[in-house]
Amino acid sequence: MMRKLDQKLQISYQFSVFFGRDVFDPRQPLLADLLSRTGPKAHRVLYVIDSGVVASHPGLTGKIEGYRTAHSRTMELCDPPLIVPGGEGCKSDFTAVDAIHERIRSHRLCRQSFVAAIGGGAVLDVAGYAAATAHRGLRLIRMPTTVLAQNDAGIGVKNGLNGMGRKNFIGTFAPPFAVINDSIFLSSLPPRHLRAGMAEAVKVALIKDKSFFNYLYTNRHQLAAFEPEEVEESIHRCAALHMDHIGTAGDPFEFGSARPLDFGHWSAHRLEEMTAGSVLHGEAVAIGIALDTLYSMHKGMLSEYERGQIFRLLTDLGLPLYHPGLAEMDLTQALNRFQEHLGGDLAVTMLNGIGRKVEVARIDLPLLESCVRQLALLDPDYANLPISDRLTGMRQFQEELG
Ligand SMILES: NC(=O)c1ccc[n+]([C@@H]2O[C@H](COP(=O)([O-])OP(=O)(O)OC[C@H]3O[C@@H](n4cnc5c(N)ncnc54)[C@H](O)[C@@H]3O)[C@@H](O)[C@H]2O)c1
Ligand SMILES: [Zn+2]
Repeated sequence: MMRKLDQKLQISYQFSVFFGRDVFDPRQPLLADLLSRTGPKAHRVLYVIDSGVVASHPGLTGKIEGYRTAHSRTMELCDPPLIVPGGEGCKSDFTAVDAIHERIRSHRLCRQSFVAAIGGGAVLDVAGYAAATAHRGLRLIRMPTTVLAQNDAGIGVKNGLNGMGRKNFIGTFAPPFAVINDSIFLSSLPPRHLRAGMAEAVKVALIKDKSFFNYLYTNRHQLAAFEPEEVEESIHRCAALHMDHIGTAGDPFEFGSARPLDFGHWSAHRLEEMTAGSVLHGEAVAIGIALDTLYSMHKGMLSEYERGQIFRLLTDLGLPLYHPGLAEMDLTQALNRFQEHLGGDLAVTMLNGIGRKVEVARIDLPLLESCVRQLALLDPDYANLPISDRLTGMRQFQEELG
């Protein structure tokens, strides 16, 4: 006879994402107010900072120090801040995680203490993983410094490291204590990274919000010129859509098989793995969006006009539609790995019109291969071909499209 005890835990998480400028200005109360929410004492904070951010904002650590001096009743620093190499490399092994854990140990930080991570999505992923696993979870304040981190990677509930040759093989679900999107950091971001982050805005608009897509399309030239007003508006709307999905779609910790926010990502993740990070995440996502857009069109779910609009938006933002790695990709393997990562049955998000997603459980492989061939005709090298060859290529593309 088996005996049984039932357990039910109900935990609700709440955190805010703040948007503003110059959070370390000593007159800015936000950070001090956030810390004092957890009690009237000086809270210990370990800063973990992306090396790329430190290099382009050399005054940053001095500013943090100045803020501490002005708010010493609420903030106690674990000096010096820990600088972590920025970019995908920091996710490739445990060096950075070990260094953060070591600081947490040597500064005797506890579950009441804070890790404040300042950086791109990669450093936030690493710091988030380290904070979530030391003492089974310290409080994490994220300060994303790239477009992609401010509109997507930094505002969600998970972290990740790459392992076993797979993207984000290791990681936990761990909502942050708070997120602060400070636009001051974006001023130093290289154009390639500014653009790459916009791919996530296109992605979420395509699956959820036609009016946001129209906003991006109408303002694509301002966005391509990095006009601050349009860039900040697109970040705000993109973050809001991501948060809305995570908060209201009923599966914040992704127990189900479908993951619409990963539209365009099944091939993107594989392309990132194949190119060892030389293609940026956002660039890979743009290529993944192009592929799945074309596929959705051939399946009759998207018009040629809509496909054209999507390609035009990506192109005018300066994002790629194709990479030769796509032609070398084992598409079945890429889909299988995606399914494995999500768990359960295959559920690939496709488009059923702009702003409307649909989950498909079966992929028509010959059609998908044909879509890759069609995109290959838009190879970046193709732009350098003589005009007569380009016209032939374009005719072939149109013919392939049927
Ligand atoms: N956890 C999640 O939910 C989630 C979601 C989406 C993406 N991600 C992850 O995010 C990562 C990509 O993040 P990313 O696009 O922010 O790039 P990144 O973190 O790889 O950073 C790109 C480069 O920019 C530098 N940098 C960062 N901020 C800068 C600034 N303000 N000025 C100058 N240089 C700066 C970094 O040092 C790095 O060299 C990927 O690993 C991806 O898997 C995570
Ligand atoms: Zn992404």
